Amino acid sequence: MRDVTPPPGILEPIETASRDELAALQLARLRATLRHAYDNVPHYRAAFEAASAHPDDLTDLADIARFPMTTKDDLRANYPFGMFAVPRERISRIHASSGTTGRPTVVGYTSGDIETWAGLMARSIRASGGRPGDIVHIAYGYGLFTGGLGAHYGAERLGCTVVPVSGGMTERQVTLIRDFRPDVIMVTPSYLLAIVDEMERQGLDPRETSLQIGILGAEPWTEDMRTEIERRLDMHAVDVYGLSEVMGPGVANECAETKDGLTIWEDHFYPEIVDPATGAVLPDGERGELVITSLTKEAMPVVRYRTRDLTRLLPGTARTMRRLEKITGRSDDMMIVRGVNVFPTQLEELLLREPALSPHFQCVLTRSDRLDVLTVRAERRPDAGPVSAAAAAESLERAAKGSIGVTIRVEVLDPGSVERSAGKMRRVLDER
Ligand code: DLL
Repeated sequence: MRDVTPPPGILEPIETASRDELAALQLARLRATLRHAYDNVPHYRAAFEAASAHPDDLTDLADIARFPMTTKDDLRANYPFGMFAVPRERISRIHASSGTTGRPTVVGYTSGDIETWAGLMARSIRASGGRPGDIVHIAYGYGLFTGGLGAHYGAERLGCTVVPVSGGMTERQVTLIRDFRPDVIMVTPSYLLAIVDEMERQGLDPRETSLQIGILGAEPWTEDMRTEIERRLDMHAVDVYGLSEVMGPGVANECAETKDGLTIWEDHFYPEIVDPATGAVLPDGERGELVITSLTKEAMPVVRYRTRDLTRLLPGTARTMRRLEKITGRSDDMMIVRGVNVFPTQLEELLLREPALSPHFQCVLTRSDRLDVLTVRAERRPDAGPVSAAAAAESLERAAKGSIGVTIRVEVLDPGSVERSAGKMRRVLDER
């Protein structure tokens, strides 16, 4: 595997600046952002006034707790362009997240925002071990989704050769990887697994491809999944986080030399962790919901945006900036089964410890006799027989009971039977 230690001089000075330097920059940028939001977005002016908070009140970073939080509903209520802080003519791009229910969430960028984003995404690719001159295969979807274009601009900015494949047409993904010999692939972890299966189907050894680095995100994935992907592809698998409301991919990224959680680019985003129930700010190290304030966005500043993503803040290691622990999941994805809270990532972890099962799975919730039933739809690996698969199912049921305390049913299907997705995988099907 490629040596991913950053050679001297390739990091931006701010990546290794002192905590004090960083805090001073954050404070200045935070004050400017609050002022910009208050002056130019009626929603923020009204919300700040309702909370009796004025931009001038912020003299210390901790004062941010006095400002109101922003939710997806606030963005929806101001659909489509009501959250923009600049005249529409200054917006050079729009993205939107589909949203399974209700109106889509619309976000806008000035040309300055696009520049900043490209710079942060270039920084993220470099942190992942990507270098100028690399060939980068982008299999995140292009379009209103921020994944494809976000990755694209960053890879170009870093000085890479970009192959903008987008998601889907898995056979062709494999052909292009074989023929163009990319160094880096940017894709959701679940779709990467589908691509690997297709390589094997075509008789190609995934460990023999040119790929050195996978920059994987847009959905939760676990440490066990990293082990699985690195084993099957003989490459580094690195986590990238982001959300359209805040920017897109590149809000936080793991450093390949440590692979110990995602460095949040604190010169552009101010993170907090809050108690999801009360909204109270929690100290670093405690688990809760990630809340982000943008520090440099022009078109659509976000103040204390509630991501619904559950994680915790950890001190910096490879950089001075803090890290996010790998995300457990969204609060919306938490299943409550007979009183026990369970996330798909917890089941992923257990499932990957069963050698007879493939990493593809879905959680199906149904109701029987007024009781919730959680069925994990799994798949046996092509080289595992039905007998060992049945034993694996039982073992997984026992492990779920033993380590999470939840009763599940495991249904083992034939290879290829669990739904595949070319982007984000829908892990939970609620059929209640
Ligand atoms: O998924 C942006 C993105 C694209 C990130 C490509 C990384 C790579 P949205 O469609 O707005 O934007 O979805 C954002 O996806 O709030 C999380 O719930 C989830 N998510 C994104 N990255 C990760 C990750 C893009 N690394 C939502 N781990 C977020 C866990 C993630 N969840």
